[in-house]
Amino acid sequence: MPTTSDRPSWMMQGITAEPVENYLYSLLPPRDEVLAEMESQAAKRNIPIVGPAVGRVLHQLAMISVAKNIFEMGSAIGYSTIWWARAVGDGGRVIYTDGDRKNADEARGYSDRAGVANRITIKVGDALELLSEQTQQFDIIFCDVDKEDYPRALRMAVPRLRRGGLFVADNVLWSGKVAEKNPTEPSTKSILEFNRLLYSSKELFTTILPIRDGLAVAVKL
Ligand SMILES: C[S@@+](CC[C@H](N)C(=O)[O-])C[C@H]1O[C@@H](n2cnc3c(N)ncnc32)[C@H](O)[C@@H]1O
Repeated sequence: MPTTSDRPSWMMQGITAEPVENYLYSLLPPRDEVLAEMESQAAKRNIPIVGPAVGRVLHQLAMISVAKNIFEMGSAIGYSTIWWARAVGDGGRVIYTDGDRKNADEARGYSDRAGVANRITIKVGDALELLSEQTQQFDIIFCDVDKEDYPRALRMAVPRLRRGGLFVADNVLWSGKVAEKNPTEPSTKSILEFNRLLYSSKELFTTILPIRDGLAVAVKL
């Protein structure tokens, strides 16, 4: 079991009790060589990937909803992208977006090695703008951009989802800061507004899974 000091940065503290969190991670089957290398790079270079426990949830959500078209907002080195791409199967498409070209180049290399490059379209730029250029409807839109952009991303994403499609967002418990009495950080305030919007929307049915840093899953009604 990893101790607090040797746990990779993509494992979280503060949401689930540490022994329970360690137990959940101990159950996970080993990942293939590509995902394992990405996890180790993310830990070394402090890249905020979703990690394998959430990666499996993403994969499972795509399987359950038989998703074929996924738009990802904030993809970094393409770790979550590979979990999605493996779930959509042959003929499925995942749109990768990130503002950083170096991330995109690295993601391209990993997706080639993972054998899913033909399912991934890489787009560099502002994920919200890139989404606004899309005319099709998606089965799943995944939000993992800067937290201040979450409420705007949600408003833009809902019309781009098919009925029964999923809007999924990471970090919605924000290291537990959502429970602070008087939050002052703009990112925390933004997540709080975002969660309120999700639960009050008449167009969505939402739950937050308290896995890792909190994963919101909303179905478009
Ligand atoms: C948390 S990381 C994404 C991790 C990735 N989803 C994963 O789990 O493997 C967030 C990424 O989003 C990018 N980003 C943040 N805001 C963005 C925006 N508005 N448009 C495009 N990329 C953005 C950052 O460059 C960063 O690489």
